[in-house]
Amino acid sequence: MSRIVYVNGEYLAEEDAKISVFDRGFLFADAVYEVSAVLKGKLVDNDAHLKRLARSLGELKMTPPATGEEIEAIQMELIRHNSIDEGVIYLQATRGAADRDFAFPKNSIPSLVMFTQKKSLSQNPAADVGITVITVPDIRWKRRDIKTVGLLPASMAKQAALDAGANDAWFVEDGFVNEGSSNNAFIVTHDGKIVTRHLGTEILHGITRKSVMELAKRENLEIEERPFTPEEAAEAREAFSTSASAFVMPVVKIDGHVLGNGVPGPVSEKMRKLYVEMAMKG
Ligand code: PDD
Repeated sequence: MSRIVYVNGEYLAEEDAKISVFDRGFLFADAVYEVSAVLKGKLVDNDAHLKRLARSLGELKMTPPATGEEIEAIQMELIRHNSIDEGVIYLQATRGAADRDFAFPKNSIPSLVMFTQKKSLSQNPAADVGITVITVPDIRWKRRDIKTVGLLPASMAKQAALDAGANDAWFVEDGFVNEGSSNNAFIVTHDGKIVTRHLGTEILHGITRKSVMELAKRENLEIEERPFTPEEAAEAREAFSTSASAFVMPVVKIDGHVLGNGVPGPVSEKMRKLYVEMAMKG
């Protein structure tokens, strides 16, 4: 498997793609990232991803490594080089290489790395049966609205879920669910309302979350943006999570409590179908 990846202006075989050991992304997780889905060779919701990237960079006073148009041109080139029909494009921008020092370097040149991953998104066996989640304490930093590569707590949460025989973990703080390890968390109440945590610095402002909420509104489904507890989630009629890499993923068990009949619920299935249809249209 040799992909063509992009590193600072060059398209290279993945074996030849190199980054400095002094890169601050490596030394300090001083880097931000985005993951955009590709369906039928086209980027999904990419303008929103690039807008969030610009915001993440701005919050960290990082120099943008390229303009939005330049980034999109590179994304398209990678899709072409790697014949991606369905999958994701990962992009990472760092503050660049500089001698190790906690202070931001004055004149470092930002790094930009991008690569593709082939992945079946529109057809996903996990979505047919639903996934199981456990809840774990949210030990992440306090600026989760910035999409940084400091992902060790998310990685540990995902591994804790797998070790417990579950598929994913939802982060809980002060008694409320924030979001999933790499997705936004939703429940559906017994009176049919879709509930997801309100935006703030505690969660990532998911692009898929926003699109799914817009689609739900168009269907006249009621949405409540408010905190919910793991107990409310475990008693909910349905639950699902959203992300660029899994779209809408039904959740059928939370902390050992089976939701409904233990199969993906109708609202989750409908939202997944509507999102995939929307994404397919491009
Ligand atoms: N993760 N919350 C967290 C903590 C995330 O890492 C993600 C995305 C989301 C969903 O955001 P969006 O809908 O914009 O993908 C929410 C990506 C997919 C990842 O890290 O691979």
